[in-house]
Amino acid sequence: MSRSLVLALAMTLSGAVASAQAPTTPQAAAVPGAEEGAQLFASTCGFCHQGGGRAPGRGPTLAGTERSDEFILNRIKVGKEGAMPGYGRAFSDQQLKALIAYIRSLKAEGK
Ligand code: HEC
Repeated sequence: MSRSLVLALAMTLSGAVASAQAPTTPQAAAVPGAEEGAQLFASTCGFCHQGGGRAPGRGPTLAGTERSDEFILNRIKVGKEGAMPGYGRAFSDQQLKALIAYIRSLKAEGK
């Protein structure tokens, strides 16, 4: 067996394990970046987006959102006057991506 075939096989297997675990892992770490996003979310956003984004609070439920990545990115960066602060300067692009990955992982959990 060629080296690359072994690698591809190993990656397929670890992918299968990750997705098999997803339903029982609360933070859905199977989505890349979601774990870091979960921590950022808990410390910065959870105050208004309750239940880790799974329930409404001062802000709406985010789990299962049908908004585009672009919309979400813009909302986090710019915020909304009188409703939500903007975080464009507080977070790096990578952190913003992690937050989006986290929000998407809420959907992946099937709530
Ligand atoms: C001070 C309370 C507050 C904080 C803190 C906050 N939000 Fe919000 N958020 C809101 C409110 C209120 C809305 C609804 C704004 C509107 O009317 O569009 C909202 C809307 C959103 C939306 C758009 C939802 C939709 O479908 O319209 C996203 C995405 C979002 N917030 C993500 C975040 C993230 C990520 C953080 C942390 C970086 C965060 N929010 C922190 C209050 C907050």
